[in-house]
Amino acid sequence: MDGTGGNWIGAFLEPHARNLTNPKDTAHLDPKTLRTVISNGIRESSMPAWGSVFDPAQIDAVASYVTRVFLVSTKNKQPTVDKHRSKDD
Ligand code: HEM
Repeated sequence: MDGTGGNWIGAFLEPHARNLTNPKDTAHLDPKTLRTVISNGIRESSMPAWGSVFDPAQIDAVASYVTRVFLVSTKNKQPTVDKHRSKDD
């Protein structure tokens, strides 16, 4: 998963998944918004509601992963997910 939403399967999604490596696409994703969107999914798109699959600690872990791998590296700034919310930090 490279976070761009541009892989073979991604080409068939309508709307397309966001490019998480593009700061313009992710500027609105503060920690709370990121957790909410992962947990609730996005209406009228194929983005699943992971809150019915993962517990809150797992949602936090996924949000931390997305932040560190995509958001922090592309925005070149410090992690924005609350550190004490993840037991791995
Ligand atoms: C754990 C796995 C996943 C994570 C962490 C994740 C995370 C995200 C995030 C952060 C966004 C951007 C939301 C925003 O800009 O407000 C997004 C958008 C989106 N995701 Fe996912 N996603 C995952 C899996 C999937 C899967 C499996 C699909 C489809 C099969 C999918 C389809 C989409 C689509 C279509 C959008 C854009 C929706 C729109 O623009 O209206 N995602 N996802």
